[in-house]
Amino acid sequence: MKFTVAIDGPAAAGKGTISKAVAAHFGFAHLDTGLLYRAVGAKVLAGGDPVAVAQALDPRDLQGDRLRTPAVAQAASEVAVIEGVRAALVDFQRKFAARDGGAVLDGRDIGTVICPDAEVKLFVTASAECRAERRYQELREKGMDVTQDGVLADVKERDTRDSTRAAAPLKPAADAVLIDTSGMTIEAAVARAVAVVEGVKAR
Ligand code: CDP
Repeated sequence: MKFTVAIDGPAAAGKGTISKAVAAHFGFAHLDTGLLYRAVGAKVLAGGDPVAVAQALDPRDLQGDRLRTPAVAQAASEVAVIEGVRAALVDFQRKFAARDGGAVLDGRDIGTVICPDAEVKLFVTASAECRAERRYQELREKGMDVTQDGVLADVKERDTRDSTRAAAPLKPAADAVLIDTSGMTIEAAVARAVAVVEGVKAR
């Protein structure tokens, strides 16, 4: 049976961690849709044409830590404004969402555009400073040479581009449940998300 959990929110809000934990808790499959845009961005940095690259994207292109760099994140948000790029990625995401046994998709437009009929919609957010601090720690742990100011600037630039673009801008769906993770432990944020899904499943 289909059961879709759509988790949207700005950069580094904790969507990835929450999505993985919710998927593991309920035995659902998980798709980090940011990886699709990151993979296209990485290929464009290597000289590819954005729309052609998006149309030819292969699941194997989504592997690896090389997609987690700030340069690839910026390139992802630049290709994500292009209608043709977004259109090329819609079918893959919708098929994933409709799979038997349940699916969690996290991104920017899952509850608004990709799966407007998702059974659960969450919008996960936190202050820009809090998100930048978490992303800074993550990137440092991966051995990347980043500064706190640089990461904060990157997060703010992407948020502005993602929220103001014409195509599928970042915004909460009207029926999304908001979770502000500023000052919340990750365990508390996961527990809140799991409780929302439990509530809907129990109906
Ligand atoms: O991990 P983080 O939240 O920093 O970013 P991400 O989810 O990997 O997404 C990277 C970029 O891809 C975002 O800044 C968006 O521009 C774009 N994106 C999008 O437009 N739509 C999605 N469903 C997912 C990501």
